[in-house]
Amino acid sequence: MSRPVTVATLQRMKRDREPIVALTAYDYAFARVLDGAGVDVVLVGDSLGMVIQGHPGTTPVTLEEMAYHTRCVSRGLERALLMADLPFLSDHDVATAVESAAVLMKSGRAHMVKVEATAEQAPIVEALVRAGVPVCAHFGLRPQRVLQMGGYRVQGRGDDGAEQVLADARALEAAGADVLLVECLTADVAARVQAAVDVPLIGIGAGPQCDGQILVLQDMLGMTPGRPPSFSHDFLADAGSIQDAVAAYARAVREGQFPAPEHCFG
Ligand code: KIV
Repeated sequence: MSRPVTVATLQRMKRDREPIVALTAYDYAFARVLDGAGVDVVLVGDSLGMVIQGHPGTTPVTLEEMAYHTRCVSRGLERALLMADLPFLSDHDVATAVESAAVLMKSGRAHMVKVEATAEQAPIVEALVRAGVPVCAHFGLRPQRVLQMGGYRVQGRGDDGAEQVLADARALEAAGADVLLVECLTADVAARVQAAVDVPLIGIGAGPQCDGQILVLQDMLGMTPGRPPSFSHDFLADAGSIQDAVAAYARAVREGQFPAPEHCFG
């Protein structure tokens, strides 16, 4: 087995321009498949509210449910770094965020927590880091805030939009985030963010210039009911098995073939 992926590994990958491959998982069986295929980061996302529980969004997901699924995934991983989402309102103030992160790390065995944030939530990121929690800050489109944000919209459009996103990225990095994750951003603004920060930047629907890519597992296996997100791709359609589909995704990210122009926002 190659050595477990750590924050230092991700920093080294950014320095060496080696793309980071990330995917979501919610259970032991899929975790084993992803780990076996060499996925670097496995996220137990609160997208489980939609893809596992059948809710229309992520807001109903509880901390206990996140901890349960994170624990299941942790048993299937030997190499990948395990990241887990702080679900809606489990991070609304500093004390609650630190207590919630403790649950995900102690009971869930997560290596890193992900918090949806803008510059306004930088004090939460700072407090988590001060408490010894490795943090990924998720900005751009924040699914927990879609009701406030007016839906699943591409972020960073126009001069003001771009400046806002760049300011968020800088503030979250300055607060000590180890990793940034940006969702649904125009590809040129994502490239500006990538150049502006020293920490690894993982993108979803954010173009090819990010240091890494992540997708929701069920989206890239073509299992999502209805119209799949335009930034995703069904890797199972051309593969013989789930293992081959995950390996094809990892290869496509590492070889710079995913995301292709049709998966990007201009
Ligand atoms: O919850 C999730 O799956 C996520 C990804 C969209 C990055 O946050």
